[in-house]
Amino acid sequence: MKLLAISGSLRKESLNTSLLNAAKSVAGDKVTWDTAAIDDIPLYNQDIDGEQKPASVDRLKKQIEAADALVIATPEYNYSIPGGLKNAIDWASRPAYKSVLAHKKTLILSASMSPMGGVRAQGQLKQILAGTLTPVFPAPEFAVATAQNKFTNGELTDTDTQQKLQRLVNDFLAWV
Ligand SMILES: Cc1cc2nc3c(=O)[nH]c(=O)nc-3n(C[C@H](O)[C@H](O)[C@H](O)COP(=O)(O)O)c2cc1C
Repeated sequence: MKLLAISGSLRKESLNTSLLNAAKSVAGDKVTWDTAAIDDIPLYNQDIDGEQKPASVDRLKKQIEAADALVIATPEYNYSIPGGLKNAIDWASRPAYKSVLAHKKTLILSASMSPMGGVRAQGQLKQILAGTLTPVFPAPEFAVATAQNKFTNGELTDTDTQQKLQRLVNDFLAWV
């Protein structure tokens, strides 16, 4: 099975990117991973969404198409998802209802420095993905709260979170 990891955070020391890395390690060798870069995707503009698209958009769409499923880890920015992630989804969402996102099974994760864990952003992401016909794994939100205390140098060191992540990823893979 081939999964595509998409982090909603662009920063180097991102807790969400670290969470994706932790998901990769618990998934084991039955899965291969590709990683999406969304930092070089221009702001969505329908005028440049024609036959010829920006190379970064072509790359993302091909990566999504080639994947059996997606794993998105998103930060919460002002109770929502970061603009960069929304922008990437907008690009990938065309043509409407027939895009590479349609029927692509997806797992949502979040990590936040707050005690809420990014759960509000997850709600918004689910709503956005409903608009792209992207089925989200039906499970209670996996939201890592006060995440700065659960990672050390980019490694998930909180054993409880690690065990729960292992269970979630196994269940997700079985669902896919
Ligand atoms: C612009 C901005 C807005 C934020 N808003 C929220 C928020 O609404 N809720 C929350 O839990 N954390 C919020 N945070 C804190 C993030 O949870 C924290 O920066 C987190 O580490 C970001 O994810 P990352 O480590 O993957 O970059 C915000 C951070 C930034 C930079």
